[in-house]
Amino acid sequence: MPIRCKRCRAALSEIYIPYARLNLCPDCFLKFYTSKVKRTVEEFKMFRDDDVVGVAVSGGKDSMALLHALKYGFPKLSLKALHVNLGIANYSAHCQAKVEKLVESLDVELHIFDLQKEIGITIGDFKRTPFKDKLCSVCGTIKRHVFEELAIRAKVKVLATGHNLDDIVAIMFNNFLYGQWEQLVRLKPVLPPLAEGMAYKVKPLIKCPENENLLYCLYGNVPFREMECPFSSGTGVKKKARIIETAAGDNPYFKHQLLNRFLELIPLLERNKPQKSFKTCQICGFPSLDQICAYCKRLSLVWRAMGKA
Ligand code: AMP
Ligand code: FES
Ligand code: ZN
Repeated sequence: MPIRCKRCRAALSEIYIPYARLNLCPDCFLKFYTSKVKRTVEEFKMFRDDDVVGVAVSGGKDSMALLHALKYGFPKLSLKALHVNLGIANYSAHCQAKVEKLVESLDVELHIFDLQKEIGITIGDFKRTPFKDKLCSVCGTIKRHVFEELAIRAKVKVLATGHNLDDIVAIMFNNFLYGQWEQLVRLKPVLPPLAEGMAYKVKPLIKCPENENLLYCLYGNVPFREMECPFSSGTGVKKKARIIETAAGDNPYFKHQLLNRFLELIPLLERNKPQKSFKTCQICGFPSLDQICAYCKRLSLVWRAMGKA
């Protein structure tokens, strides 16, 4: 027998949310999702209605769903989209086109940092450096720096990323296994700015499983990339995600439980962690633990490999 939506009781249910034991029709699912994102923003005090919030949009389902849900969940918010074009053949143009399509339909200002145009490199150029087998990791370092730069350019106080529940518990679990406590702490839902004038980092999708972000895009007509990054590799984090999936079995609460325990652990870790003093990178002027920051070190490597340094 067809099941009716548990919220409106009129339409037929098409989606089952196992941890909430909810059968929902598409319209009620879209409302369920945006109100969950809203509640997460409010629970962790990620931003206020009158803030200027930048959303780092890659073109992937998570960050595209995030931008769309924030636009509808917080109609008064001043939103800006920030995109990094990584110069990866075919893939990056495809991602940027999807981002442009979404921002146009939502009437959101878009700021793009194109690695090739602005600094003369692409992520593929790192194949000529010792990072050749770690393109994803070097890409992460480059993106984190560029997000800060884009946030300053776009004058946003808060920078939201689309990290989802599955990503976060897998990365937390990986950091936990290797005792990487500082990296674990950096996954908390709200990270204060590293220095004055820089942005807060927030993760409004911390409680949204990956499949809900996908369903939100599909049912909400939100465009998203249909290609995989050619450099994405089976990193350790992906393996940890599979371990978590297996351990969860048919327990629908498992990932939420893991997340909650890690979130309880973070304040304890922070209390005991030695205070690190940041210096200023001698090249770019951003906060850094060394004289030269990780971003500038990697840039000089790639420029040297390309004969540009
Ligand atoms: P990832 O590290 O690729 O899992 O991405 C995590 C989050 O970082 C995404 O949900 C986006 O918010 C942001 N992000 C990743 N790549 C880009 C990009 N090329 N441009 C803008 N934001 C990005
Ligand atoms: Fe960074 Fe694929 S998106 S290596
Ligand atoms: Zn630097």
